[in-house]
Amino acid sequence: MPPIVTIRVFESCNELARSAAERIAGLAAEAVDRRGRFVVALAGGTTPRHTYERLAAVPLRDVVPWADVHVCWGDERMVPPTDEASNYRMAHEALLKYVPVPASQVHRVPTGCGAPERVARTYAATLHDVFASTEGNVPSFDLVLLGMGADGHTASLFPHSAALDEREQLVVAPPELVQGVRRITLTPPVLQHAREVMVLAAGAEKAAALRAVLDGPDAPHAYPAQLLRQAHGAVTWFVSHPAKEFTRCT
Ligand code: 6PG
Repeated sequence: MPPIVTIRVFESCNELARSAAERIAGLAAEAVDRRGRFVVALAGGTTPRHTYERLAAVPLRDVVPWADVHVCWGDERMVPPTDEASNYRMAHEALLKYVPVPASQVHRVPTGCGAPERVARTYAATLHDVFASTEGNVPSFDLVLLGMGADGHTASLFPHSAALDEREQLVVAPPELVQGVRRITLTPPVLQHAREVMVLAAGAEKAAALRAVLDGPDAPHAYPAQLLRQAHGAVTWFVSHPAKEFTRCT
């Protein structure tokens, strides 16, 4: 059954970030109320960062039941957690240092603990622990938050990567370097199994990719975000108005 897809268009990055933060806060409160916890996979990127900053500020900071939130990452760069390129560092600086998520519930990708392939295996085991799932079962995040690049990549699933065809592993370390660095990424099955996926895509430079991903013919190897067409849950796109010239979120 195809996913329930909602496309929300905003006139500015600020409005997009505010609305996305409100949606995340609402999903968190609902998940905790219904299931006792909220397990989210965060994304890297400037658009997600703006959203985290709003979650860290009143009033949303006081809405989210942080004590029952588990934070994971949809992808990470193979750099130390203190590195400026680290998605963990970005989320910590924009959000986590301001809100009371228990440290035991912040599940950082353990970069620095061996080769990329070993880090991927370790993180997959972490996900099985968090979800009390076993090998072969695909965990279902309450929310997977994603950005999208101008090339249609999402998480660290880049065009023509072998990772796009991964259907068994939960986490992989694609062989290609991105800006000189290896990446760790959740695989398509994990993204597709989420109860909800939110994709944040702002900036005129993404308009062409957005049109290809949302309306173009099936070409997920060229536009990896098209993998969300096979999502099991809801997919909500938060986009800046693609027809209008916007400067990139800064
Ligand atoms: C990363 C992200 C990546 C990002 C997109 C969008 O590690 O870089 O996970 O998928 O979300 O590239 O980034 P911007 O919002 O900065 O364009």
